[in-house]
Amino acid sequence: MKKIILAMTGASGQVYGIRLLEMLKDLESEVHLIVSKPALLTMKVETDKTEEYLRNLADFFYSPSDTGSAIASGSFKHDGMVIAPCTINTASSIAYGIADNLIARAADVTLKERRKLILLVRETPLHEGHLTTLLRLSRIGAIVMPPIPAFYTKPKTIDDIVDHTVLRVLDILGFNVEYHRWEGIAGENKG
Ligand SMILES: Cc1cc2nc3c(=O)[nH]c(=O)nc-3n(C[C@H](O)[C@H](O)[C@H](O)COP(=O)(O)O)c2cc1C
Repeated sequence: MKKIILAMTGASGQVYGIRLLEMLKDLESEVHLIVSKPALLTMKVETDKTEEYLRNLADFFYSPSDTGSAIASGSFKHDGMVIAPCTINTASSIAYGIADNLIARAADVTLKERRKLILLVRETPLHEGHLTTLLRLSRIGAIVMPPIPAFYTKPKTIDDIVDHTVLRVLDILGFNVEYHRWEGIAGENKG
């Protein structure tokens, strides 16, 4: 049973967090979910899902103000934290150790304990400040994983595109999942 912390922040792409939560429900996992207020606003714009839907899928549900909860401490043992989607706002807080809410605090202690932190950062285009922030995050141990689609899988639907990214996240977290892995082009690199 893997313990996963999942946070959703107010970037476009709420479907990534929702799909991850749905897939984690079907896997051997215990999910600790934190949802920012802007995430709920963006979710309303982009999807027909509600906070109640998320609450029902998660094993534990927190608000960003719950900074006294167990997951705010490095002593909480878990198998990885994912922020999907991740705003530039939250990415910047984490990069500079500004832990004034539970999402940034749980991410900060995840990094200090050298656990996996996967950030599905979503913004475009990116200015130099954003790029510096992402470089800093990578250097302090985060896995910066913007949800950029792969087209070699020949996706037919938005669900295909979303699932491919979400399955890659689950793969990085160590779940035994199958997805379209690039196997090379037939005839290339032979003897
Ligand atoms: C519909 C909508 C889409 C947004 N998309 C993005 C986005 O893709 N990336 C981003 O960094 N912020 C985006 N924002 C802005 C964030 O929601 C805003 O900066 C918020 O304060 C972030 O707070 P949080 O990090 O606590 O969730 C969007 C806002 C709205 C309403």
